[in-house]
Amino acid sequence: MPTLEKIVSFCKRRGFIYPGSEIYGGLANTYDYGPLGVELKNNIKQAWWKYFVQDREDMVGLDGGLLMNPKVWEASGHVEKFKDSLVECKKCHKRFRPDKLNDISKCPECGGGLTEEKFFSGMFKTVIGPVEKEGLTTYLRPETAQNIFVNYKNVLDSTNVKIPFGIGQIGKAFRNEITTGTFIFRTLEFEQMEIEYFISPSANWKKIFQDWADYMRGFMDVIGLDKRKLHNREIGEAERAFYSKRTIDMDYEFPFGKDELWAIAYRTDYDLSNHQKMSGQNLEYFDEQENKKYIPHVIEPTFGVDRILLAILCGAYKEEKLENGENRTVLKLHHSIAPYKAAVFPLLRNKPELVKKARKVYEELKGEFMVDFDDHGNIGKRYRRQDEVGTPFTITCDFDSLKQDDVTVRDRDTIKQKRVKIGELIGYLKEKLHA
Ligand code: GAP
Repeated sequence: MPTLEKIVSFCKRRGFIYPGSEIYGGLANTYDYGPLGVELKNNIKQAWWKYFVQDREDMVGLDGGLLMNPKVWEASGHVEKFKDSLVECKKCHKRFRPDKLNDISKCPECGGGLTEEKFFSGMFKTVIGPVEKEGLTTYLRPETAQNIFVNYKNVLDSTNVKIPFGIGQIGKAFRNEITTGTFIFRTLEFEQMEIEYFISPSANWKKIFQDWADYMRGFMDVIGLDKRKLHNREIGEAERAFYSKRTIDMDYEFPFGKDELWAIAYRTDYDLSNHQKMSGQNLEYFDEQENKKYIPHVIEPTFGVDRILLAILCGAYKEEKLENGENRTVLKLHHSIAPYKAAVFPLLRNKPELVKKARKVYEELKGEFMVDFDDHGNIGKRYRRQDEVGTPFTITCDFDSLKQDDVTVRDRDTIKQKRVKIGELIGYLKEKLHA
């Protein structure tokens, strides 16, 4: 597996991920996604949405706002309990989580003495309104889940869903994280993909929890992650979030060690009961089969887009020696999430007839797939460039293409080449990409 440093520099060099606000000296623990990063990220989100929302009859989607009424965060318990315990260095004033320190008696950076533990909110405050003192103070959401709880009744009233059913959402979340410094693994702003799955209080929650945990594991195949690197970790009561009665973290083998990729929690009726109390609205569900009213219980599968993207990059990045003795870096991405599905080259850039033919092929493919056109440098360099960003197929127009109306298609993984008629190219690629 590559080191994290290698992945960080690769991501910047090839336009996947840049440090945030870099021309101003950066802003610690913020990152921006570049041209290839945004394609990869969108493909992960689309794959998630299809697998978890569209392919399931018991799921619907939602896209809630980042800003919510501050009462939401009082009811959810975040104002009171979403806090990190920290110690501060009396000399350099850096803050640390005591549970992450090997030696609690001195600052790991400058050796200075540490203060007693204090609690700091994990939420970012913001003020709505033109005058700060008179404005409404609220928070940037620290989890997307609360939009789902707050809208659960709207979804019930405006669709045909019946319990058991789930609502899925993808969106940004913000946390005033202290333990950072592992690239996009833990950042201040990140994207979550969450499901709140509503069940009857008398349902067998343990079985539903297990079924969801298994289904989540299946997503590894969809995005090409190695299941052998995913390990379930039961979270004990002391470590569990305040809303959860059972949590399993699913840890991935990252270059810096095993850590949480995604998780599942049994949130009981904690959130809906608290929102019913705080809002004064009736959030009960009438179950026709059980012939009774109740506040549903909730199983929550939760995912971080950025961590999945990091796991994918770490798993796919390979440095190989080819049979001809050349070295190459190749990103063995699953076809479905590769930023470009194919790249088209004219064999020589100074032969207008080849460039014209290659452009025509490119234009035809562009309507079907995300494709790149590359005529920089020699053909070997173009292969290396496309291998490095994980493009599954590279297509070259050569002099035979002018006579035979065909192209060579090279497979990223086998590096085997095959001549394919231009008229059959779209069908050929579709078959290969979905194989
Ligand atoms: N609604 C439940 C919840 O938010 P969580 O375990 O705190 O649970 C869910 O977060 C997922 O969000 C994590 O499994 C992780 O993938 C991602 N995540 C959490 N904090 C993150 C951070 N600071 N940076 C990047 N991803 C994060």
